[in-house]
Amino acid sequence: MKKEILKIVPNSLSTSDNQQTVYLSAYWMEHLKLKENSMYTLICSINSLPVKIKKMPVKDISNNILWLSPDIFEKILIPEGITLEVIFTEKVIRIGPIIALLTENKFLKDYLNGTKCVEKYDLYADAAENASALIYVFSLRNLNSKDKYINGYIPKKDENNKWTWHKRLLPMPDAICNRMATAATSPAYERIKLIEEIVPNIKIVNRVTKISKWTIAEILQRDLVAKKYIPETHLLRGSGDIINMLEKYPVAYLKPVRRSLGLGIIKMEKNTEGNYTAYYNVNRFNLKINGDVNYILAELSEIMGKRRYIVQQGIPVALYRGEIFDLRVTIQKNGIGEWSFSRWSARVAGPGNIVSNVAAGGKGVPAKRILREIFGDRFQGIKDEVKKAGLIIAEALDRRLISIGDLGLDIGIDLNENIYLFEANFRAIRPSNINSKDKEAWRRTYHTSIYYLRYLYDVEIEKKYNPQL
Ligand SMILES: Nc1ncnc2c1ncn2[C@@H]1O[C@H](COP(=O)(O)OP(=O)(O)O)[C@@H](O)[C@H]1O
Ligand SMILES: [Mg+2]
Repeated sequence: MKKEILKIVPNSLSTSDNQQTVYLSAYWMEHLKLKENSMYTLICSINSLPVKIKKMPVKDISNNILWLSPDIFEKILIPEGITLEVIFTEKVIRIGPIIALLTENKFLKDYLNGTKCVEKYDLYADAAENASALIYVFSLRNLNSKDKYINGYIPKKDENNKWTWHKRLLPMPDAICNRMATAATSPAYERIKLIEEIVPNIKIVNRVTKISKWTIAEILQRDLVAKKYIPETHLLRGSGDIINMLEKYPVAYLKPVRRSLGLGIIKMEKNTEGNYTAYYNVNRFNLKINGDVNYILAELSEIMGKRRYIVQQGIPVALYRGEIFDLRVTIQKNGIGEWSFSRWSARVAGPGNIVSNVAAGGKGVPAKRILREIFGDRFQGIKDEVKKAGLIIAEALDRRLISIGDLGLDIGIDLNENIYLFEANFRAIRPSNINSKDKEAWRRTYHTSIYYLRYLYDVEIEKKYNPQL
């Protein structure tokens, strides 16, 4: 098997026998030991067709070009002039990888209209160009499962070297990064199954992105290495669970297992026997009530609803200028299939708030500034420990969950420099407004996603065409 990076262009020869013909220069014919007029199977995604190989009579014989007769383009649906990896085996010529980002229709529309969007797809396009991959963005509406293609959006550079996105028919992908909010019970989950049926060996990263906080806590509490990072957590069945937690720890957090943005979270403390205080936030107002646990639960029943909750040991996190803060740590699978640290930042809660979420009034602050102010010279050591914790947590989750690739971990630190995981997010936002200071780190998160998909494709190719390895 040989792999070459070649530009794929339509030939302009109009001989009578140019039906489904692949052309290479004399140099490449020799280098790849291809025989003129012999037959190969050309494969691109799920499309495969018989092709004849011919020598292209060109002056510059070492140019890295693969010419295809125009009818091949029509069948494999890739755009003309794209540079991709071409694999040559004794019988097969394979073109790829084709990488797709699955997104909510709304985000795609916002992006194409230039409205503020939660992602910067251009950075994925940069990464795909570096990785010699064909990339496109699509929503489930763009899937034609009957005819097995996707009417998605591909990036193209304009005269100012800026990406513009164009809708066209595209082949089914070799690999997908799911950027939708998908639970195992979502209708989208079933639609994604359709894609898996059409492309049997497809690699889908982040297949499920909405996972209950209880599932995460259970996995980590059972993991011998990672359990030290998860605050003690139980499913909330009744007032007894809160009372027990507050016998062991001064503070307890009640959290709905399926909400986000800090919504529905309650902090509880014990004052005296039978007297407790609950702190919570409604429309950005910090509120509290006192009483016994049953009274408090009854009073808060409107906020909590019928939702499933966990009760969690409250962590006395170190304060930054009087307010709580936590870290958002991005851990991703990278181009060699290993978990790696990509970036971090911190969020400081609004005055007196019990959660640090930006949606609840928190503010993003560089992690380094906060940790230096609180912990001084011990900053570097803490950073190393946070990275280590992130990798241990990622590996523990990876042992139990399928297809995860991107993690946004919410991590708290107490004054004794203990590290705790509050929550794992599987679809960490990658913002469209990136300030210049953090630019490189953000770029890395986009690149790492694409390089991981690229890696998964390579593994599949090796398995298929180099099975002895
Ligand atoms: N066990 C805890 N101890 C102390 N603070 C916590 C705890 N759990 C959550 N928090 C605070 O509440 C915030 C939101 O909690 P999190 O579990 O991330 O839920 P959400 O999905 O709503 O973001 C955290 O960022 C942190 O500031
Ligand atoms: Mg959170």
